[in-house]
Amino acid sequence: MRNRRAAVSAIAAAASLALTLTACGQSSEGGSEEDKGGTEGATIGIAMPTKSSERWIADGDNVVKDLEGKGYETRLVFGEDDPDQQVSQIENLITQGVDALIVAAIDNKSLGNVLQQAKDADIPVISYDRLILGTENVDYYASFDNEKVGELQGNYILDKLGLSGGEKGPFNIELFAGSNDDNNTRYFFQGAMNVLQPYIDKKQLVVRSKQTALNQVTTLRWDGGTAQKRMDDILTSAYKSERVDAVLSPYDGISIGILSALKSDDYGSASKPLPIVTGQDAEVASVKSIIADEQSMTVYKDTRELAKVASNMVDAVLSDKKPEVNDTKTYDNGAKVVPSYLLEPVSVDKENYQATVVDSGYLKESDLK
Ligand code: GAL
Repeated sequence: MRNRRAAVSAIAAAASLALTLTACGQSSEGGSEEDKGGTEGATIGIAMPTKSSERWIADGDNVVKDLEGKGYETRLVFGEDDPDQQVSQIENLITQGVDALIVAAIDNKSLGNVLQQAKDADIPVISYDRLILGTENVDYYASFDNEKVGELQGNYILDKLGLSGGEKGPFNIELFAGSNDDNNTRYFFQGAMNVLQPYIDKKQLVVRSKQTALNQVTTLRWDGGTAQKRMDDILTSAYKSERVDAVLSPYDGISIGILSALKSDDYGSASKPLPIVTGQDAEVASVKSIIADEQSMTVYKDTRELAKVASNMVDAVLSDKKPEVNDTKTYDNGAKVVPSYLLEPVSVDKENYQATVVDSGYLKESDLK
C-alpha cells in the first residue's frame, strides 16, 4: 500500500507525521484534481542525468515545481553523466524513504539492481524521457515520439537539399547519433534513416566517410567535444576538395561541436557555406546559432509538458488511479512493454522559432540576443 510508505518516510519529520498519517486513512479515488487524497506529504525522488545541458536543469526544476504544486515534497539529484553516481544517488533516495521515483537514466542498462531495491520497498518508478531497459520494475514511461524526432531531422535535410521527390544530387552527408547507452539514440537514428536511407541507396546522398552503421556514428554521453573530434577526423580523412552538404546531428550539444569543427575547416563563407546541420532540444546556444544562420534547425520538445506528464503519472499511481497513457505497444524494454505517454516534437528553424519556442514562453527573447 503506497500510503504506508508515505508514513514511513515521514517518521524523521515529526511535523509532517501527523499530516501523513491522517492522509493514510483517505483515498483520492474519484476525487477532483485539487483533492490531494492520501498522497499529501509524500516525497518524490527525481534523478536527472546531468547539469551539463540546460534542458535537464529545466526538466528537474519543472518536475519539482509541478509536484510541489500538487502538495508533494521532492528530492532532486543530478548524476553528472556518471552511471555509478546515478545508481548510488537512487540507492540513497530509496534509503531516505521516497514514495516514488522519476528517473532519467544515464546508462539505460545499469539500473536493474537498484530498481529491484525500489520494487522491494514498494516504490513505483517512472522512466523519464529515456526508457530504462532490462527490468520489469519500471511502471510507466513519459517521453516524446522519439522516432518522429529523427524523421523531422531527416525530412528537413531532404527538403533543404531539394531532394524530396526530385532527382537532384549527389550531395555529401555525414551521420551522427547520440549516446549508445541511451535507448532514444536508436529511435532518433532509425527515424532519420527511414527517411534518408532510400536516397543513400539511390546515391543521391553519399556518406564519404562510409560510416553509416549506428555503432560507427554514436557519441558517448552526447558529448559535443567528442562529436567535434569525430567531425574533424572525417573532414581530414574523407574531404579533400569535396564539401559536406548536410550533417545529421541528433542533439544541439553535438551540433555545436560539429559546427566548431566545420568552422575550423573554413566552412561558413560564401565560397564554402556551412552544410545543413540538424539538432534537438531548442537549447539557447543552438537557437542563437540558428538565428545566426549557422545551425539549420532543432527539434523543440516542450519539456514543461513532459514534466507535467511525469508528475501526473506519479500522482495517479500514488492515488491508486491509472495514469493516462497513449502508447502501450512501442516501448518494449526487454522485460516488458512499458505503458507510455508520448508527446509531439516540433521542427524549428529560423522561420518559425519565434512562433514556437519564443511565443510559447519556452525561451525568452532576451536570452536569444
Ligand atoms: C536524450 C533526449 C534528447 C537530448 C539528449 C541529450 O535522451 O531525448 O532530447 O536531451 O538526451 O541530453
